[in-house]
Amino acid sequence: VTTDAEILRALRTAGDSGIAGGDLSQEVGLRPRALHKHLETLRGLGYDIESGPHLGYRLRRSPDLLHADDLHSRLGKTRTIGRDIRVFQETTSTNDVVEKLARDQVKEGVVVFAEAQTRGRGRLGRKWLSAPGKGLWFSVLLRPRLQPEVATQVTIAAATALARAIRTETELRPEIKWPNDILIGGRKAAGILTELSAELDSVKYVIVGIGVDVNQTPADFPPELRKLAVSLRMARGQPLDRAGLAAAILRQLDEDYARVLRGGFDALADEWEAQCSTLGHDVVIQVGPRKIRGRAESLDPSGALLLRTPHGHLERISGGDVTLERHETHDPAF
Ligand code: BTN
Repeated sequence: VTTDAEILRALRTAGDSGIAGGDLSQEVGLRPRALHKHLETLRGLGYDIESGPHLGYRLRRSPDLLHADDLHSRLGKTRTIGRDIRVFQETTSTNDVVEKLARDQVKEGVVVFAEAQTRGRGRLGRKWLSAPGKGLWFSVLLRPRLQPEVATQVTIAAATALARAIRTETELRPEIKWPNDILIGGRKAAGILTELSAELDSVKYVIVGIGVDVNQTPADFPPELRKLAVSLRMARGQPLDRAGLAAAILRQLDEDYARVLRGGFDALADEWEAQCSTLGHDVVIQVGPRKIRGRAESLDPSGALLLRTPHGHLERISGGDVTLERHETHDPAF
C-alpha cells in the first residue's frame, strides 16, 4: 500500500470531522513537510482536501477518476482480488493487458482498469463500447485450482458478486440473465467476458473482464443500443461515484471467489438463481449454429444451465446466447 493510499484512507476514516495535521503525519509516518508534498500532489489530481489550523485536514470531494491509490484506500485489505491494482487511461482491451500479465507469471488478484478501451470486447465476438470515463472497464487475473469443467463457477461467482455490489451501492434490483449479463428493468447494464487458459486437467488462468455502464446518459449510447442498454445513472436518476462502486465490486468478487475455492458453490448458485431472470422461462439458446429450445430449469454443479427440451430431455448448456421465447425478436446486442 502506498503512502497516498494511506493518506486517503486516513482522511476517509476521519470523515467530516477531519484529522489533525499531527495525527495524520503520525498515522502515515511522514514528517509535516513530506506530508504537505503528498497532499499537494493529491490536490493536483483533483482531491479537494480542506485544511485549516483548527480543522486539520478534511477530504471534501474526490474527483471522478480512477486512481490506483484511491481504489486501494477504499478497498482496504482483501484476500486475493485487488492486492495489485493498475489503472490505464486508455488501452485496447483490459482483458488483453491482463493476458500479458498472466503470461508474464504475475500473481493472481491483479486488477487492470482503463478509463477508455479502443477495442473493448464482448462475448461471442461482439464489440463492447467503453465510453471514456463513464463506466467501469476492468479485468481480473485469477489462477484457481480448479478442473476446467468447473471454471464456469468463477463466472457465476462474478455475476453474483457484481449484482450484489450494484444492489448495495444503488438500491436498484439487478437481474442476471444467463450466463452473466446484468439487466435492470430488462435492459443490459453490465456484462462479463471470461477468458480461460487451461490444460487438459487444470486451469492455468482465468481472466474475468467486467464492463459496467455507470454514468452514461442516453446520448452516450448509439441509437441502436438505446432500447437495449441502460446505465446505472439512467436507472436511478442520479450519477454514481465510480471509484466507490469499483471498490464495492472488487470486495464482493474477493468474497465470492474465496467461496468458490472453499467449495461453497452451492450457496452461491442459490443466490445466483434467486436473481436470475432466465430460470423458469421458455428460452431459445443459440449455441454456435444450433438453436436449442426449452425451459431453463437450473444450474448444474459446474455452473452450466440445465434446459428441459420439449421432449423432456435435460440438456446441459455451458455457453451460448439466450432469447426468451415470448420475445420473438433476437437482440443482437445480447
Ligand atoms: C458481454 O456482455 O458481452 C461482456 C462484456 C465485457 C466487457 C468488459 S469491459 C472490460 C473487459 N475488457 C474487454 O474488452 N471486455 C471486458
